[in-house]
Amino acid sequence: MAVERTLSILKPDATRRNLTGRINAKFEEAGLRIIAQKRLQLSEAQAGAFYAVHKERPFYKDLVAFMTSGPVVVQVLEGDDAVAKNREIMGATNPANAAPGTIRKEFAESIEANSVHGSDSAENAATEIAFFFAGTEIVG
Ligand code: CMP
Repeated sequence: MAVERTLSILKPDATRRNLTGRINAKFEEAGLRIIAQKRLQLSEAQAGAFYAVHKERPFYKDLVAFMTSGPVVVQVLEGDDAVAKNREIMGATNPANAAPGTIRKEFAESIEANSVHGSDSAENAATEIAFFFAGTEIVG
């Protein structure tokens, strides 16, 4: 098991309902450490660039509108197998399919307003972390 880092985003539906602390507790209880964190209002350009991989998908425009609809909290989580572990803690993208106890099962409103984003591979995690954080902002 390797110590990894992953990029996490608490989405506007989560900040709107004041869920930052309850979601962070889920990460910490599962053994992930929050080694960088900031609250941001994403611009359309930032959200569009972050989700550029989904540019051709039918939900892209709505996704960018949703991600700019309120503050987000961007974070770096560190721990053993952090990428896979975070995906387990988050649960399935669609909350209807998320397992009991997961963040999305407990908190997500819909497939779009699904409370959290997490990197899907170690390679993408490195790119996504660099998108939001300077090295000096990450304190492991
Ligand atoms: P996320 O992990 O942030 O990555 C892309 C996001 O697109 C995803 O979570 C969902 O919130 C959002 N999304 C909206 N509609 C869909 C859809 N039909 N299929 C997959 N993702 C969707």
